[in-house]
Amino acid sequence: MLARRAYHPRVIEHYTRPRNVGSLDRHSPSVGTGLVGAPACGDVMRLQIQVDDRTGVIENVKFKTFGCGSAIASSSYVTELVKGKRLDEAARIKNTEIAAHLSLPPVKLHCSMLAEDAIKAAIADYRAKRAATVLK
Ligand code: FES
Ligand code: FES
Repeated sequence: MLARRAYHPRVIEHYTRPRNVGSLDRHSPSVGTGLVGAPACGDVMRLQIQVDDRTGVIENVKFKTFGCGSAIASSSYVTELVKGKRLDEAARIKNTEIAAHLSLPPVKLHCSMLAEDAIKAAIADYRAKRAATVLK
């Protein structure tokens, strides 16, 4: 039945007006890049954060997602969630939080998992860069 397969209005809203689409300079020492894929469907998400090195606060965030509507909505929503947060706070964001906000059905849960993986990967990349800089 069509009604049961319909997207939640919040998914459609993020899908038609995605926030923070784009790229940041991945060579900048203040930028962390997370590139993740979903084995279940082959969709790919790239999420980048720009961090204030002094405070550890995420000042800017951009994403590009090659994937379904739920994946695009999940990444758009996660960029809103992490902007202005400290890294340790952003690292605690769970896919269940994203899925609940967007009312994703079970078959679409992995789309929100992609967003959680992407932010975690971006944070790990930023931290690895920082560690390398400090060691120099
Ligand atoms: Fe095709 Fe997600 S499975 S876009
Ligand atoms: Fe694979 Fe949405 S269907 S990320």
